[in-house]
Amino acid sequence: PFPESFNMVFFGGAGDLVTRKLLPAMYQCHKNGLLVEAGRILCVDRQDLSEEAFLELAHEKARQFIPAAEWDAAVWAGFRQRLAYLRIDATQPEQYTPLKERLKKAPAAVTVFYLSTAPSLFATICAHLTRQGLNGPNSRVVLEKPLGHDLASANAITADVDRYFHENQVYRIDHYLGKESVQNLMALRFGNALFEPLWRRMWIRDVQITIAEDVGIGSRAGFYDKTGALRDMVQNHLLQLLCFVAMEPPASLDSNAIRNEKLKVLESLVPFTEEDVHQKTVRGQYRAGVCGGKAVPGYLEEEGIAPGSHTETFVAIKAEIANWRWAGVPFYLFTGKRLPERLAEIVIHFHDVPHPIFPLPKSGACAPAKLVIRLQPDEFIRLYLYAKQPGDSMELQPVSLDLNFAEQFKVRRAEGGYERLLLDAIRGNQALFVRYDEQEQAWRWVEPILNTWANDPKGPLPYAAGTWGPAASRDLLKRDGICWHEGK
Ligand code: BG6
Repeated sequence: PFPESFNMVFFGGAGDLVTRKLLPAMYQCHKNGLLVEAGRILCVDRQDLSEEAFLELAHEKARQFIPAAEWDAAVWAGFRQRLAYLRIDATQPEQYTPLKERLKKAPAAVTVFYLSTAPSLFATICAHLTRQGLNGPNSRVVLEKPLGHDLASANAITADVDRYFHENQVYRIDHYLGKESVQNLMALRFGNALFEPLWRRMWIRDVQITIAEDVGIGSRAGFYDKTGALRDMVQNHLLQLLCFVAMEPPASLDSNAIRNEKLKVLESLVPFTEEDVHQKTVRGQYRAGVCGGKAVPGYLEEEGIAPGSHTETFVAIKAEIANWRWAGVPFYLFTGKRLPERLAEIVIHFHDVPHPIFPLPKSGACAPAKLVIRLQPDEFIRLYLYAKQPGDSMELQPVSLDLNFAEQFKVRRAEGGYERLLLDAIRGNQALFVRYDEQEQAWRWVEPILNTWANDPKGPLPYAAGTWGPAASRDLLKRDGICWHEGK
């Protein structure tokens, strides 16, 4: 049930994520009538802004980041009434007093503190909130990634936050889990009896999960150069997608029922030795090239990147899951920046028929029998099958069965991910948030890759911006007689 009133407090409230993504997402919820009237949004930040100046900034960003078709000045005027700004240096205990006063003036059934700050501030903020008496049974904290830099730092954050907030108050956000299409994976797998019997090693040859981006690192050089694609995308988004593909059917939609199953997948991932890292991973870094018809600089030429940086902007990994369902089925994970297009999809390749009686078209190593789950930019599920070509021969040809969600539902499905997750944090549903042990296990699995790369003087392989990453990433599959679904 939705609480009758809430306070949403954004720390880092004048920052990029809040103004570019979170406030626009709250606006959409407001516009769709999903917020109770007594729902207030308080942005706190150390930036010295008057409330007017902040509202102006929020408005400007909203105009920029809310699609024109969704923008409605009158709706914004209503939404604006919910917004307030407070200047706080979150490291200074005395500065929490005005926050406390504000919240006391407008008490709510639920208070969500969304920490869109550097993780180094998480413990401090949690401590001060608690000391100010702001950490009650109906208070929650949402933690924005990056949650740590490696296993030890992630565990330190968990331990710090845990000193003040119980796990059932802690919402670790992975915005990919808020995407309709990701939840739809559950609907597809567990709402239909059709796929489940086939969803295993006997029928599935390999799984490919791709999150490609055409953008570069934008203005985030400082963050990105210390982070890289493995920490930024694989440790969280890609592994979470892998979990939704590979997990066993949960007993219910209960938060822990789902998270228990995801954890089991993460625990079953085959750990990498140093040798495996060399054999089964490829890291790349973009050079200058052409993206979207525009000449773009290479990573090392981006402003703020350390000279000779070895930070990867592309990762390909062959992962394996050691359990009865998946033993021997490769899961290929790909992600990169400055690739030719923005594309996120999961491709399930089925085995060839055991005894072909038809003259099959020469499809090379790419099995045409596949299920493609496209997450973005468009959203569809497409099942490729063989059908007979018209005419008097018995030649087969791949055809597709298409389910396009935009056409099917004729309503806007939230694509970004934050809308659903913000609502879930307010209503206290943790199912789409990452539990501490999933987080920990994901770090445990990526750590040998991080370490091996850090000690390898060769650094990432170059690829031209606007191409599909280093050719070596395709070799990862070719060695197994498989080609990348993209076929590039
Ligand atoms: C974020 C990463 O978590 O996800 C960014 O930090 C990346 O580097 C973004 O661009 C991608 O999200 P989306 O929703 O645009 O696919």
